[in-house]
Amino acid sequence: MSSRDAERTSTAPGSAPAPPTAAEKPLLSVARVSKHFGGVQALTDVCLDVAAGRVHGLIGPNGAGKTTLFDIISGITAASVGTVTYIGQDVTKKSCTARARFGMRRTFQRAQVFSWLSVEDNVLAALEWRGGGGGVLADLVAWPTRRSLEKTRREQAEQVLEWCGLADSRRVPAGSLPLGRQRLVELARAIVDQPQLLLLDEPTSGLDETESERLGEFIRSLRDKGTAVLLVEHDAGFVMRMCDRIAVLNLGSVLAEGTPAEIQANEAVRDAYLG
Ligand SMILES: Nc1ncnc2c1ncn2[C@@H]1O[C@H](COP(=O)(O)OP(=O)(O)OP(=O)(O)O)[C@@H](O)[C@H]1O
Ligand SMILES: [Mg+2]
Repeated sequence: MSSRDAERTSTAPGSAPAPPTAAEKPLLSVARVSKHFGGVQALTDVCLDVAAGRVHGLIGPNGAGKTTLFDIISGITAASVGTVTYIGQDVTKKSCTARARFGMRRTFQRAQVFSWLSVEDNVLAALEWRGGGGGVLADLVAWPTRRSLEKTRREQAEQVLEWCGLADSRRVPAGSLPLGRQRLVELARAIVDQPQLLLLDEPTSGLDETESERLGEFIRSLRDKGTAVLLVEHDAGFVMRMCDRIAVLNLGSVLAEGTPAEIQANEAVRDAYLG
């Protein structure tokens, strides 16, 4: 048995891959990030590495700064101090759009669908940014490259709708669905283009047990295709089952980082969060 195999057996549950080794360059690096909102210090000196093909958990009590960190990673909020490096580039000052074009996707703590658009159009919207050349004229004359691109988009959307169990609702306005299914629409939109980095903010909230199970399968399958997943989640069992590494935030600072077993055994984490 190689040392990597031994590591896998001892640290990761089920079929999870071995934790990243020092030789693996992180896909995302958050370095010494702090954020204040007026007098509220939301994050202090946070460092976090996320490797490709791994599921990383980010846990911590309410108000710990998890969503603020997601906002900084995805470019919605600027850090007061610190840098975000993604695929080897300093993206600290790049827009959300630029980060999305480099394959970064996220979902929101409060699901954000285009409520007036159909479920299918929500998913297609995530694929519209790639033009086909030729501008408006090409649109008007349905230039062949446009037609083939459109066909590919529809096939991709169809596949992900089937996968998420949303095919029967494809023509329904997304905002008319129950919360759990809106979350699946948001997820479908985030994964339709095979993200390199997927940020999920409390994705099981509003999902029933079967939907959570299905979500777990999506996450594993994305990971197996090389996507890095950063998961904020209050369901401790789900986090422990899903993650290769976990970071614990408390009062805006990283309290601990390690494998699920290390985090469960950490006394400071138990006191602050796991109870
Ligand atoms: N836009 C804002 N303006 C002022 N304070 C904010 C803002 N956004 C977040 N905060 C504060 O920053 C801190 C971290 O909030 P954040 O939402 O990131 O926590 P969280 O870990 O995601 O919590 P939860 O588990 O409840 O979602 C909190 O004290 C919060 O009140
Ligand atoms: Mg939050």
